[in-house]
Amino acid sequence: MTQVDTEQQPNESVLAAEAKLDLSSVMAETFYEEVLERLDRELIGLVPVKTRIREIASLLLIDRMRRSVGLSAMPPSLHMSFTGNPGTGKTTVALRMAEILHRLGYVRKGHLVAVTRDDLVGQYIGHTAPKTKEVLKRAMGGVLFIDEAYYLYKAENERDYGQETLEILMQVMENNRDDLVVILAGYKDRMDEFFKMNPGMSSRIAHHIDFPDYHVDELVQIADLMLDQQQYQLTEEARELFREYVERRMQMPLFANARSVRNALDRARLRQANRLVKRGGEISVADLKRIETEDILASRIFQEK
Ligand SMILES: Nc1ncnc2c1ncn2[C@@H]1O[C@H](COP(=O)(O)OP(=O)(O)OP(=O)(O)O)[C@@H](O)[C@H]1O
Ligand SMILES: [Mg+2]
Repeated sequence: MTQVDTEQQPNESVLAAEAKLDLSSVMAETFYEEVLERLDRELIGLVPVKTRIREIASLLLIDRMRRSVGLSAMPPSLHMSFTGNPGTGKTTVALRMAEILHRLGYVRKGHLVAVTRDDLVGQYIGHTAPKTKEVLKRAMGGVLFIDEAYYLYKAENERDYGQETLEILMQVMENNRDDLVVILAGYKDRMDEFFKMNPGMSSRIAHHIDFPDYHVDELVQIADLMLDQQQYQLTEEARELFREYVERRMQMPLFANARSVRNALDRARLRQANRLVKRGGEISVADLKRIETEDILASRIFQEK
């Protein structure tokens, strides 16, 4: 077995082609399986997203091994776009991405800086560049997540300050790509339009990852997972009812996938607490954990016919 020295510079000494490296030790050292397994476990569905992340992680792992034996391993460009409707997990996955990139030695710190247009673009002439650069400085060594990135581009106004931000951004994405990953997020159709109008930006994005809306079953599983993490539990009947709740909620305006599930559960907890307090007397641990049908049934959705 050959000792893997990840600090070694490329091309210093390439080992003989037959030399064997121990993949499992590099995996252990980078927590490769742990992070990916956690991603699998803590996020319901999103199979294509998870597959792509696994591929990226594998590439970084192999690059690390290549570098360790003196083979060239140019840092790949990892700027991405995350498209999808509200509440489909874009911000959550970006956070995980930052952690994985850090574990695998791609970025130094692995933090996430989440911004929107207002954090980057100034109101007056001369304000935008310093504002954008300040954000980039904060994000260096980690991931810069720009939500609703298309607001940086205003087709109807050529002199919009957003253009300045885009230009600085593109330059940094090219020059600092081994220590900063930029993720542009937003609705799919608006993002497609944005990339069509900004081919320079489009060509710097290596991975376009689409976050589909969740199915009812997935949303109910997400609810179970969220409750489990908070040490609550739906009774069998309450889960049936919650499923019906989700089906109805999905048809209504402003439905936001997993975010709507989280909000509905917050309200269910409120009702559960109120029910217990009203009832008074002795309360068991099981009572404290249990969400019952009436906690769901009291929802506005079941009131209006
Ligand atoms: N697949 C999933 N499994 C479990 N929980 C999820 C999943 N997707 C999202 N969530 C949870 O739903 C909530 C909303 O997710 P998140 O903020 O990542 O969505 P988003 O796509 O960034 O939404 P927005 O566009 O509204 O910012 C979070 O609390 C997150 O933990
Ligand atoms: Mg978000």
